[in-house]
Amino acid sequence: MASRSRTALRLGLSLLGLSRCGLGFETGEVPSELESYVTDPIARHTACAVDANTATVCVLEGFVSQATTLDYYILTLPEEGLLYETSPNFRSFGSAPLMAPEPIGPHLLPLLVTDPKHQVVYVPPANKWPTPNAWTAFTFVVESPLRDEATGQMVMTRSEPGLVVLANPEQQIAGSDFSLANSADGWSLSGQLEVVAGNAPSQGVRHHASAWGGLNHYIYGADEVQSLDFATGIDLARWYFEASPRIFHRKELAAAYGGMLRFRVRSQYGNFLELNDPLDWVTIECQSCDSGQGARIVRFVDETLRWIGNEVYMELYLHENGRWSYDPLNSAAEFTYATQCQIAAILTNVSRIAILGDFTRGGEGIALDDVAIVAADASLQPAYPLSCQQGCICRHNPSLIHPTCC
Ligand SMILES: *[C@@H]1O[C@H](CO)[C@@H](O)[C@H](O)[C@H]1NC(C)=O
Repeated sequence: MASRSRTALRLGLSLLGLSRCGLGFETGEVPSELESYVTDPIARHTACAVDANTATVCVLEGFVSQATTLDYYILTLPEEGLLYETSPNFRSFGSAPLMAPEPIGPHLLPLLVTDPKHQVVYVPPANKWPTPNAWTAFTFVVESPLRDEATGQMVMTRSEPGLVVLANPEQQIAGSDFSLANSADGWSLSGQLEVVAGNAPSQGVRHHASAWGGLNHYIYGADEVQSLDFATGIDLARWYFEASPRIFHRKELAAAYGGMLRFRVRSQYGNFLELNDPLDWVTIECQSCDSGQGARIVRFVDETLRWIGNEVYMELYLHENGRWSYDPLNSAAEFTYATQCQIAAILTNVSRIAILGDFTRGGEGIALDDVAIVAADASLQPAYPLSCQQGCICRHNPSLIHPTCC
């Protein structure tokens, strides 16, 4: 595990570097911009997969701790497509038409959902093809009369907004398939890349508008010179594919808890008998988590996950059994497996997703395609754990409770 600690130090410094100039870094007490957070009731984040040209019923789920009523309100409308209440026919008999005659208009917000099963119907924009990304999202809140412990009075309490992501037909919330000619879709390469014949900076990520095995229109990165630490034989500076901020750094990823991150990858060259160690294959960061101290999970290559450069379609589960390691951001501490709420917290505000390119101790060329963040199946929704959405006490500001402090 010594080598893991060394990685912790190196990875940790780059993230901490971001917050070092922030206030209060030295004392550990962080003046926080977080607002106070309503922990009861809860409007649970969820995802619904929607086919093109198909009206789709989506169930809103809420939670309240006391035996009381729970009302559902639509708070914001989807930016594209239309949202409807269910029709009396559908409520009584489950039959078509699914939706009420008129869509929900902006002047009606917040709109009390009258379906006793708190279902609504989403209709995607007409004749539009699905993309690798979610169609759109909307928010709702739940409201309950709660007994105030101190006064014994009933107080109407409104939850924080819950997110409903209208995912594409494959349950994808965010994705890059690099299908457009000459477009790396906002992806880039990071780390120290060098090219043969001098120290000229590499060209960065390249887009290939052709097919290669199961890859069709993909991005490509290569490191042609090794910069080895001769004492250890470990690559000093690794290179990574950095996910497009526009596509992958979005709040909709919260609804991906319980789903997966998948990608297709294939090596063009490289000696996969001489691998770097440890191999931090996928990194997901949330800069604003833990009161702005930052949080990071890493999926290391281990005995359950190996790659020898062949073409593979990797699926990494975004839940507590996905063997994600939580970076202690402290060179003296070991990585431990990330908990349910640590993974969930990071997904609420992702600031970086990186996929390792630098697998081998020498140079390598790696092709990447069909990267996607996918929501859990409909039967598992809402998959974002309730206890995590109820929040955790902020380590750096114990008077606050917030999901990003988990
Ligand atoms: C999400 O993170 C960004 C920085 O990555 C920050 O500016 C923003 O305030 C965060 N949003 C929330 C709701 O915490």
